[in-house]
Amino acid sequence: MKRKPLIAGNWKMNLLNSKVPAYFTALEEATRGIDRQKVDVLLAVPAPFLTTAREHAQRVQAIIATQTIHDKADGAFTGEISIPMLQDIGIRWTLIGHSERRQFYNESDSSVAAKTKSSLAFDIHPIVCVGETRGEREAGKMEEVLRRQMDAILDVVEGNSEFTIAYEPVWAIGTGLVASDAQAQEAHAFIRGVVRQKFGSLADRLRILYGGSVKSSNIQGLLAQADVDGALIGGASLDPAEFGKTVSLASSI
Ligand code: 13P
Repeated sequence: MKRKPLIAGNWKMNLLNSKVPAYFTALEEATRGIDRQKVDVLLAVPAPFLTTAREHAQRVQAIIATQTIHDKADGAFTGEISIPMLQDIGIRWTLIGHSERRQFYNESDSSVAAKTKSSLAFDIHPIVCVGETRGEREAGKMEEVLRRQMDAILDVVEGNSEFTIAYEPVWAIGTGLVASDAQAQEAHAFIRGVVRQKFGSLADRLRILYGGSVKSSNIQGLLAQADVDGALIGGASLDPAEFGKTVSLASSI
């Protein structure tokens, strides 16, 4: 049976707090009348907008997530944001290990694992990102990379943990190069297989999102794949009309 799709937007370091109310007004307009039993919606927003976004997101029943967390609950970590701080303002979801965090901020499999472990311990739902670079794919190492990244994550979860995986091939992020439906399906099936080997039936309820140049024009083909359970959308989530169209299409599959 198909899992309920999750359409997630990742604003990255874009937009402004003052633009957040108008964004949700436009998203509400673009998603009016759709069957919300058929799709979950999430937006990962910059930390300064979390409170504003959480208030306005109620209008469209969207989950608001942060884009990264620190694995420690408190301490001398200038500039970081802890999980208790997020919980205190009502945030219950986070991205972890996005490829931009891995690439620009030296996040490693072990720091991704530490963050995943802490978020689960504090009841924060992590969307943990994995994916190979273009060089790794061309060298025939996609499965090896995905297995290494997944093993680090699966070391810190349990059979009843609530988490989501986002498969984001680095070569498809922000490049306009979307993985073909078949390439996405192949990677998602591989990831689900790795989860099944270790945790059996957890694999059946795990949602695996695809990310990398997703927009309204390619969402239907991706969601038609057996193991694609939603999308993590960067650039095309900045336009609420376009993002809303993608959510609407996902709800009608
Ligand atoms: P784009 O949709 O802009 O390719 O970004 C994908 C992504 O990194 C989402 O987290």
